[in-house]
Amino acid sequence: MLGALNHVAIAVPDLAKAMEFYAKTLGARLSAPQAMPEHGVTVVFIDLGNTKLELLEPLGENSPIQGFLEKNPNGGIHHISIETPDIRAAKSSLKSSGVRILGGDEPKIGAHGVPVIFMHPKDTGGVLLELEEHAQ
Ligand code: CO
Repeated sequence: MLGALNHVAIAVPDLAKAMEFYAKTLGARLSAPQAMPEHGVTVVFIDLGNTKLELLEPLGENSPIQGFLEKNPNGGIHHISIETPDIRAAKSSLKSSGVRILGGDEPKIGAHGVPVIFMHPKDTGGVLLELEEHAQ
């Protein structure tokens, strides 16, 4: 079911400040911020070669990372995303193993324009795990 690590997503309370840290202090190459109103976040991508970091800042009301930032006001690792060749096969296999999938029955189109699912952290040892469909 699992392919490569696609990204590690980091929720930040202040995107400009986080961008300055990654760009100036760590010397990372950052994308321009991309507003994704349909996902309730503004995202900056940091390409590390073998994987990516994604800085997420809440956008608009009811952002899905708002509650996380209330519990973690300095920000923190929000989720990790692993590639999978067939999201529907992964989903039905997980469901039959008793893993709860967040957000309804249809895979959603994620920030990269491909179908994704999120597993309930209570069923994964406390980590919000995203699977993202990619041909292997
Ligand atoms: Co993600």
